[in-house]
Amino acid sequence: MKPSPKTFHVKSFGCQMNVYDGERMAELMLAEGMTATDDANAADLVVLNTCHIRERATEKVYSDIGRLRKGARQSGRSAPMVAVAGCVAQAEGEEIVRRAGVDVVVGPQAYHNLPALVAQAASGAPALDTDMPIASKFGALPARRRVAPSAFLTVQEGCDKFCTYCVVPYTRGAEVSRPFAAIVDEAKALVDAGAREITLLGQNVNAWGQDQGGLEALIVALDRLPGLERIRYTTSHPNDMTQGLIDAHAQVGKLMPFLHLPVQSGSDRVLKAMNRSHDRDSYLRLLDRVRAARPDIALSGDFIVGFPGETDAEFAETLSLVDAVGYAQAFSFKYSPRPGTPAATMPDQIAPEIMDERLQRLQAALNRDQAAFNAKTLGRTCDVLIERAGKLPGQMLGKSPWLQSVHLLTDAAIGDMVEVDIVRADPNSLSGLERRRAAA
Ligand code: 5AD
Ligand code: SF4
Repeated sequence: MKPSPKTFHVKSFGCQMNVYDGERMAELMLAEGMTATDDANAADLVVLNTCHIRERATEKVYSDIGRLRKGARQSGRSAPMVAVAGCVAQAEGEEIVRRAGVDVVVGPQAYHNLPALVAQAASGAPALDTDMPIASKFGALPARRRVAPSAFLTVQEGCDKFCTYCVVPYTRGAEVSRPFAAIVDEAKALVDAGAREITLLGQNVNAWGQDQGGLEALIVALDRLPGLERIRYTTSHPNDMTQGLIDAHAQVGKLMPFLHLPVQSGSDRVLKAMNRSHDRDSYLRLLDRVRAARPDIALSGDFIVGFPGETDAEFAETLSLVDAVGYAQAFSFKYSPRPGTPAATMPDQIAPEIMDERLQRLQAALNRDQAAFNAKTLGRTCDVLIERAGKLPGQMLGKSPWLQSVHLLTDAAIGDMVEVDIVRADPNSLSGLERRRAAA
């Protein structure tokens, strides 16, 4: 028997969906009468909500468990109960119990059972649940509580695309869309709990609801929600970018001018080996249509360098695609072989030094374009949603419609929408002067 935990701490790694899941797990524990603490070293229960997308993300989990136990030993406390949730839990299951002796392992589709699993672990038996039940976990979760002005809402999970490098189809399962009405209800609850911006989340969010009118129908419905000011969505797949959704960027007032559309590579040979099912040209033409609908749209992407067999010339095609697009921001990664994925056993794995060099060159190009995009915002006036206090006295931080961080001196509160003149553009953020406070 271990004492039932009274305090808990949830630490989420990886993507925004994990952040969302982490919040919902916290709500479950609060509903059980437990108290949240910001200090992992003071908690009776630590939930590590893990990511499996790249190797380093996985290794972090094991080092975190070691650190937590060492911290407890050094301060003379008994070791906390540790629950491993998220995608590493799904992928490694019992292996984690064997390797790290943790108390609870719970997959991303089973976390509504967390309180029961914690109770089982408290009675002395390690508890494991990595089922992917047909019935959705969402119905079993408690109501939303207080949330930040910018909130996440998962509308779709899983992936049927099977890109050859990616673990997501294995850890998150098949593509599933939540029902329209349940999403609208949750959006209302989020607004009541303080949200003014909602980011709709899905591994393939733009594949949401193909039998429910498509993502644009959901966006149009949320546009009518009083109190909600901004709508965003991520992550999209180029093949599911319908004309209806593109048109929504021209027509729906609350839909922000931002699109995260991963391309991964600029080489058709590599895209094919990745099983991406779009090519360089179809991607670029798609972006032309998006820009025609919303000329000021900020474009974002994901890139992988050093996919097996990638030649210098193929990598150069990625650089030239970056030049052609002019991204407002982007994420870039070194290829990491994931166990069980087809690419992990492909010939011609690329040497780490070559990956390092390519990543540096790619990031230099992406940083250049991000700085250029920010510089274009200089002198513009835009709304900023205040999200948190800045480092300087009186300084607040918020986001522009194009998802840039904006610093400003203001007595506006978190959650206020402020009209701002952009007076300074740096490579990673903007600074503004308050012009007017939008009515709350
Ligand atoms: N190695 C490196 N990067 C990866 N990504 C997904 N799988 C891998 C992998 N095995 C990147 C892709 C994806 C983002 C979420 O993570 O760019 O879009
Ligand atoms: Fe990481 Fe993908 Fe799981 Fe998100 S869905 S936590 S990115 S492996």
